[in-house]
Amino acid sequence: MEKKQLHKLLEQMTVEEKIGQLVQLTPNFFEETDGEGEITGPLMEWGMSKQELYNIGSVLGTHTISQTHQIQAAYLKNNRLGIPLLFMADVIHGYETIFPIPIALASSWSPELIEEMASLSAVESAEAGVHVTFSPMADLVRDPRWGRVMESSGEDTYLNSLLTAAYVRGYQGNPNKLNENFNKIAACVKHFIGYGASEAGRDYNTVDFSDLALYQDHLPSFEAALNAGAKLVMTSFNTIKGIPASGSQWLLKEVLRNDLNFQGLLISDWAAIAEMITHGVAVDKKEAALKALSASVDMDMMTDCYQSSLKELLKEGKITETTVDQAVLHVLQLKNDLGLFEDPYRGMKGKQQKAVTFSDSIQSTARELAAQSMVLLKNEHLLPLNSKKTVALIGPKAASQDILGAWSWIGKQSQAVTLKDALKKEYPDLLTAETDSLTKITSDEWETIKRVAAKADIVILALGESSEESGEAASKATIRLPEAQEQLVKSIKAINPNIVTVLFNGRPLVLEEIAENSSSLLEAWFPGTQGGPAIVDILVGRVNPSAKLPMSFPRNTGQIPIYYNHMSTGRPVTQQNKQEKYISKYIDVANEPLYPFGYGLTYTSFIIEDIKVSSTQLTEDTKIIITVNVTNIGRMIGKEIIQLYLHDVSAEVVRPVKELKKFRTVLLEPNQMQEVKFEITVEDLVYIHPDLKKSADKGFFEIFIGTESRAPKITEIEYV
Ligand code: BGC
Repeated sequence: MEKKQLHKLLEQMTVEEKIGQLVQLTPNFFEETDGEGEITGPLMEWGMSKQELYNIGSVLGTHTISQTHQIQAAYLKNNRLGIPLLFMADVIHGYETIFPIPIALASSWSPELIEEMASLSAVESAEAGVHVTFSPMADLVRDPRWGRVMESSGEDTYLNSLLTAAYVRGYQGNPNKLNENFNKIAACVKHFIGYGASEAGRDYNTVDFSDLALYQDHLPSFEAALNAGAKLVMTSFNTIKGIPASGSQWLLKEVLRNDLNFQGLLISDWAAIAEMITHGVAVDKKEAALKALSASVDMDMMTDCYQSSLKELLKEGKITETTVDQAVLHVLQLKNDLGLFEDPYRGMKGKQQKAVTFSDSIQSTARELAAQSMVLLKNEHLLPLNSKKTVALIGPKAASQDILGAWSWIGKQSQAVTLKDALKKEYPDLLTAETDSLTKITSDEWETIKRVAAKADIVILALGESSEESGEAASKATIRLPEAQEQLVKSIKAINPNIVTVLFNGRPLVLEEIAENSSSLLEAWFPGTQGGPAIVDILVGRVNPSAKLPMSFPRNTGQIPIYYNHMSTGRPVTQQNKQEKYISKYIDVANEPLYPFGYGLTYTSFIIEDIKVSSTQLTEDTKIIITVNVTNIGRMIGKEIIQLYLHDVSAEVVRPVKELKKFRTVLLEPNQMQEVKFEITVEDLVYIHPDLKKSADKGFFEIFIGTESRAPKITEIEYV
């Protein structure tokens, strides 16, 4: 439809029809509406009429293709102007096929793989009638107590931005051709903004940070998503500068709409508009609606604030019809961009659906992605496994199908391939001692464990959490594994010290005990539908692990928030002064995490040498080329991620001790060498200054290159 026609359509709409378009509800509102029966259920509770229901703009969270089809058909029969509904859903890491959770995907450090995952998720969900996914989550996270770190790309702004943009590209393809490509869906980047900085890692808690932190740490990933063409933005639950995000005119109108030039659909998070009342900044739904609409929130997710108040607000002249029209246009525009006016059932393939959804080829990609996401944290020579050894698989996650992770609501655990099933294929004589509970080992179980551990050459110990222990509303004050699991490693070690521990979890954990008592440690995260085979690919060495942590693993919960790119202090701890008293340190634990950002082992070894720096002086119009030679000196083909960090030593504002600026991935055969080149320009030195503008300071910068964030300094350059 031409833009002109959209305006014509808008002119034909009554005020009630316009307001309806700004409302999003769950499918159960449609359940009691068949026939001429009485209004019951949610409709009645909200005091909504059937006609009002058939004016709403969008539905979130349908479960099946038939449900979606039915609702759209009933709606179109009853909507006077035939404006189709928009269906949105939380397609976070897959739809029917579940891929690894986002923090795992981020461990691949691969925008290409993430783009592929998003693209396959789009195919499966579009076929089921989904038009929009509430993904990617671009929130920067530095507190692993917050359960939603599992949905994130971690603690680094640069990596977060690259990966967030990759999700958007994967879901949407060409954002201007969504009406032609029904295998694509629109992306809604969330949560705008600062949700990841919830105090003490407690979900929905207060957020308070400086403008500098907002602009330099939290905003870039959203900017990257919008530059990649994200069609929607979702507001966050938290306050920003004391105002709930969904009611902040400064945040949404000035920063988002104006500075970032966002012209798409802005939707509130679930009930966030009404929560302004609980926050204590709106006296009732009407005031909450006034604040949200005035801040340019177009769509109200799951409250009746807009539905019940906008008409009255219009009558009272508190809002204008132009403001309402603008919001409605954003909704109609998105429907049009998706081609819904031409085909309200876009993408839905009915019976043909199964041909692609959950196909073998998607399963094999899911397996590959999972293997690329697993981080080898420790390896004292047990891995890859020797095929001639006797192997015992023990523990609560050994045969568990709870390996999909949170936000996999369409995905079925029954379709997940367990570690046990996959390992049995390699070791038909596999000894097993599964345990039932995550928190308790019974005495019978312990008897079997003792027996198989003593018999085996190597013990694979599958430990971890349940999917419900991370995700939304799953903050934890203690991020260790249950005592029973820590004790299990210790007890087995006394019988057989050759322990390979495989972890299934959704956040960085405190792992000192587990690491100390395991010879090898593999972080498998929640690896998804093909988790078992992917782990086995790594254990037996079919895949050489190459993933790197996108978030630090603390030694102790008391160190949180802990992240590599923290600010320089006036009294930093160093190797030389660490015994002194008046320096920035803990007296009971080291400052450093157990496993830092960027860390991850492989089965081979790489050396970085022959560092060449084209010049140590940089000007506005020149660039510095840094080259290093990377050689695989091990015995297996392997991938390594070469990381370049920078530190501004004479800045106007205190800067992080290190910032990731670039990275390159190399894949090398044994003894193969490759030259890796990095280009540094003034663009890389730029940061947000107190005037909130981007510029670079003249002076010195340290450069570090290595295979993790503890990379050594290799040179110093000067911007003249
Ligand atoms: C979450 C969002 C999610 C929405 C819809 C909210 O509770 O914060 O991330 O997209 O629900 O399910």
